[in-house]
Amino acid sequence: MNFILSSPLTTKSLQLSVCANYQLRPRSLSISFLRYSLQHCTMQLPYRSKEEYKKHFIAHSKRNVVPICEVLCPLLADRSGKLFEFGSGVGVHVMQLASNLPHWQFQPSDMEPEFVAEIAENVQEFKNIDAPIHWDVRCTHLDSEKSNYDIALCVNLLHVTGWDTAVGLFRSASWVLHNQGILFIYGPFKENGGYNTESNRSFDESLQKKNPQFGLKDIVDLKKAALENKLHFDRKIDMPANNYILQFHKQVESASGCEII
Ligand SMILES: C[S@@+](CC[C@H](N)C(=O)[O-])C[C@H]1O[C@@H](n2cnc3c(N)ncnc32)[C@H](O)[C@@H]1O
Repeated sequence: MNFILSSPLTTKSLQLSVCANYQLRPRSLSISFLRYSLQHCTMQLPYRSKEEYKKHFIAHSKRNVVPICEVLCPLLADRSGKLFEFGSGVGVHVMQLASNLPHWQFQPSDMEPEFVAEIAENVQEFKNIDAPIHWDVRCTHLDSEKSNYDIALCVNLLHVTGWDTAVGLFRSASWVLHNQGILFIYGPFKENGGYNTESNRSFDESLQKKNPQFGLKDIVDLKKAALENKLHFDRKIDMPANNYILQFHKQVESASGCEII
């Protein structure tokens, strides 16, 4: 399968103010549910500065974007739908997917206002990418107005954040997805306390030295946290460089035990 490579990321200075950005209204999502509890919403950086952080994750995403697309695009290519991405960074994955899946509509988001502004600048030309929104998976207060995305995606977030982010991710994903919607999480993980390679063990140790809350999350723990949010583990897909894509689907049951369609 051939993939279109999105144009190189711009490094133009930010032109949108943060306030202007908060007011951007995505086409497919009501903004009314977004209420922020700012008291806990501080960014924990795995690097000394945001610039350094951004440089590192963009370098990684340029390497993993094609393999991720190679897995997701064939699964989604024969239908249309809506995909919500958490922790989009500067939008590398959402742009690549949007280029290859023109019948899909994409909603990028991030907790960091500077990155939200940068995504907005980067995705201007894409008709199938909605205006990015500010969304902290830990802090967003979700009201009863449900969303109905087909797919939720999160790339390289959980190893550079604490456990509260993993819990928040499942809660947020369960909220944006409709019943039977699918969540994909890409990244390095451990399983039953074990590592798939020695390099991932060292990587985990180096992350925890930076911040004891950081580090590879255990798939066993993730499955439990997912289930608490009606997300059932489906499979683990091997990816290059000792990473995985974890796939979950949302299944809501009625009081009678029957699946709600
Ligand atoms: C390592 S970067 C990965 C960015 C992008 N997914 C990629 O692979 O290029 C992690 C991203 O998650 C965002 N992030 C961190 N904590 C978050 C949270 N609690 N809620 C939403 N986004 C978060 C950061 O601002 C950053 O953009």
